[in-house]
Amino acid sequence: MFDPDLLADKHILITGGGSGLGLDMTARFAELGATVSICGRTPEKLESAQKEILSRSKNGKVFTHAADIRDYEAVENMVANLESQGGLINGLVNNAAGNFLAASEDLSPNAFKAVVDIVLTGSFNCSKIVGSRLIEREEQGSILNIVTTYTQTGCAFVLPSACAKAGVEAMTNSLAYEWGTYGIRVNAIAPGPFPTEGAWSRLMPDEKSEQAYKSRIPSGRYGEKWELSNLAAFVISDLAPYMTGSTIPIDGAERLNAGQFNFIAQLAPRDQLKQMFQQMKSKSSK
Ligand code: COA
Repeated sequence: MFDPDLLADKHILITGGGSGLGLDMTARFAELGATVSICGRTPEKLESAQKEILSRSKNGKVFTHAADIRDYEAVENMVANLESQGGLINGLVNNAAGNFLAASEDLSPNAFKAVVDIVLTGSFNCSKIVGSRLIEREEQGSILNIVTTYTQTGCAFVLPSACAKAGVEAMTNSLAYEWGTYGIRVNAIAPGPFPTEGAWSRLMPDEKSEQAYKSRIPSGRYGEKWELSNLAAFVISDLAPYMTGSTIPIDGAERLNAGQFNFIAQLAPRDQLKQMFQQMKSKSSK
């Protein structure tokens, strides 16, 4: 579907691009010709990610910068440094996140703040700094925010993440409208169950929970990194210039468990359920 030079005119900064889904998206963008920059808090992680990306696209241009995106000044320095090496950043993926399971009544103010600062303030810092430089230079760009399917429903035991990601979704819509004037598109992708070591070690208590969780996914499987990376490449590219202010879920329909009677799908095999429905129909029509 994609030309190998789809992203050749892009310099894309991916926050948290040193591991997990961020790393796979970065490698895919590099395969499609983008100059990529990744940031994170751990320099060693960034170095090893850089090697992995280059092993997937030998002639790729990959820059790294260790920074904490919660720190506005650090982001300003980072963007200036990365642009001095790879040219104006005209693509940004706000991917870096923090999350863990905790009962909300036990959260310390600092725990709430840590997640909200990484996810919401970090996304603001990067969008504001990259966006204002584009506006100043009268250049167009594309911002992609990685949110989650529970922005619309809220979610138990991950309150800081639910609040912060809902904020990022509001930021997506706000900036899409405001910066549409400048030709800067702002979209979001809401991934559902894409397990990574980082996320699962914090969010999946044990094997039993994993089984219970998997039974909620209609296709019975998790998403694979390449599926998200291809969608991200499409959204950040110029293939659909009219798309802005959109949040696209990719979750195997897992989010639709919010439907009241979805639990019935798990009660029995489908043919038995159909018999049951038939019996209920006959009874109710008497
Ligand atoms: N349950 C409850 N509170 C927790 C916690 C947990 N599992 N993990 C951390 N906290 C609390 C800490 O106790 C601290 O609060 P306190 O000062 O009142 O004790 C506060 O959160 C900040 O923790 P700290 O480790 O100092 O912050 P940090 O900035 O280094 O780390 C986190 C931020 C907590 C979000 C950390 O998990 C992180 O760095 N995550 C990044 C990667 C990630 O989460 N990936 C998954 C994405 S889905």
